[in-house]
Amino acid sequence: MVSGSFDADGTPDAASAAYTRAVEQGFYDRWFSDEHLERLLQALAPDEQQLLGVFPDPGFTGLEPWGEFYHQLGFGPDYPVGTFVDYDKTLNAGGAEPLPARLITGVTVNPAFRRRGILTHMMTSRLAQAVADDIPLAALTVSEGSIYGRFGFGPATREQKVELNTTATPDGIRFRTPPAGRVIPVDPSRSEDVQKQTFAAFHASTRGSVERQPTYWKLGTARWDPENISSWNRRLRAIVHVKDDGSLGGYAVFSFEGWDQQPHTMTVRDMITVDTESRIELLRHLGQMDMVDRVVFQHSYPVQDPALQALVNPRACRITSLQDMLWVRILNPVTALESRQWSADGEFSLQLTDPLGIAAGTFTVSVSGAVAQVTSASQPAAAEASTPQHFQMDIETLSSLYLGDASVLTLRDAGRITASEDADWSALSATFDLPTPPFCATHF
Ligand SMILES: CC(C)(COP(=O)(O)OP(=O)(O)OC[C@H]1O[C@@H](n2cnc3c(N)ncnc32)[C@H](O)[C@@H]1OP(=O)(O)O)[C@@H](O)C(=O)NCCC(=O)NCCS
Repeated sequence: MVSGSFDADGTPDAASAAYTRAVEQGFYDRWFSDEHLERLLQALAPDEQQLLGVFPDPGFTGLEPWGEFYHQLGFGPDYPVGTFVDYDKTLNAGGAEPLPARLITGVTVNPAFRRRGILTHMMTSRLAQAVADDIPLAALTVSEGSIYGRFGFGPATREQKVELNTTATPDGIRFRTPPAGRVIPVDPSRSEDVQKQTFAAFHASTRGSVERQPTYWKLGTARWDPENISSWNRRLRAIVHVKDDGSLGGYAVFSFEGWDQQPHTMTVRDMITVDTESRIELLRHLGQMDMVDRVVFQHSYPVQDPALQALVNPRACRITSLQDMLWVRILNPVTALESRQWSADGEFSLQLTDPLGIAAGTFTVSVSGAVAQVTSASQPAAAEASTPQHFQMDIETLSSLYLGDASVLTLRDAGRITASEDADWSALSATFDLPTPPFCATHF
């Protein structure tokens, strides 16, 4: 295995170009042009992504069935057969401050080398590095739901795709609340500071939010066309909500799908606001655009958005899909639990199992004034005796509970949390479960 990072200035050398092309091949993407690579790597460089690559040694027995063909016809020695990228951002878990999270992306294994343990090797070694670096949790988004549970990851936030009927009929969207502030169309290429400022406020106040990578601002300001990042996105439009007090409420960027598309459709690429009032105003503006009969959110629409509860006709919004989004893997239960939101005072102990052994142990959790103190018990029996409420679960289950998307009683009924017979499940639920779903608006 070889690890490295992109050049600080993002200049694509042969190795980083091959690495990036191997990742995109793994996701069945197109073959990137040199110009595309240069732009992409320059945007990724500030994140100091760590690139792990697996390369077959010459003479490796796994290459024997290929004869000479691997060297004659393969992509060349710069191309890894396994890729794994990670870097650090912050995650808002609802506590006083966002906590560091190791984000994992670019996980691919060449189809000719699958099911030989390459992913397992990359994952276990990089999680061990994250532990050594004192990072309390790891996070990723998944292409298939069956891959990452074995490594202790659990789905922790969900997102929706929604379609709004924006026809000027009783079926179209109208809101119960009177308009507040003003929505103004803006030049997307001049809105980078507005987008960054709005996202910073959103990130600080939204449980489940992950800090964004710079690629968002390239796409959000029309500098990159998502279909071809070598050119500007000349279809992109932007609006900004300014509140009655003159402060910034939020923005949306969107594009029209063309006059041939029926019904006439506006697709929202990104919408971030500081609160529900601004979400309603941006939706109201989108809903009142002349000649547009449908507004589509392709992804990243929050579950249980209060703005949709403000609709006069609830059926003006149709949910077209609901899926898991952020998956979390707790590495350090003490730091992770002390950094999350809690609903009520309480005291309990948790016996955690972990297939990788990283977070296994018994932990006592004492919540007072919405802040938890967590200690790792060297004597599990003593912890069990000192707290009447003693629960057992695995790390995957705790990771799914962590941000408040899944509830204690649901996972108990699924057989994933157990306790002694006299355990007070209502008390644990009152302390652990959170009143609103988490929301992550950052794909990586
Ligand atoms: C997913 C992928 C990275 C797995 O790589 P791999 O090196 O074959 O995985 P491993 O050999 O380490 O397998 C580890 C375990 O996971 C299982 N597994 C791997 N991929 C799986 C999948 N797609 N679905 C279900 N199980 C899977 C294996 O069967 C194995 O289980 P076992 O230990 O019980 O035998 C690889 O198939 C791939 O590149 N897929 C396309 C890109 C992709 O989906 N990447 C994931 C992005 S989130």
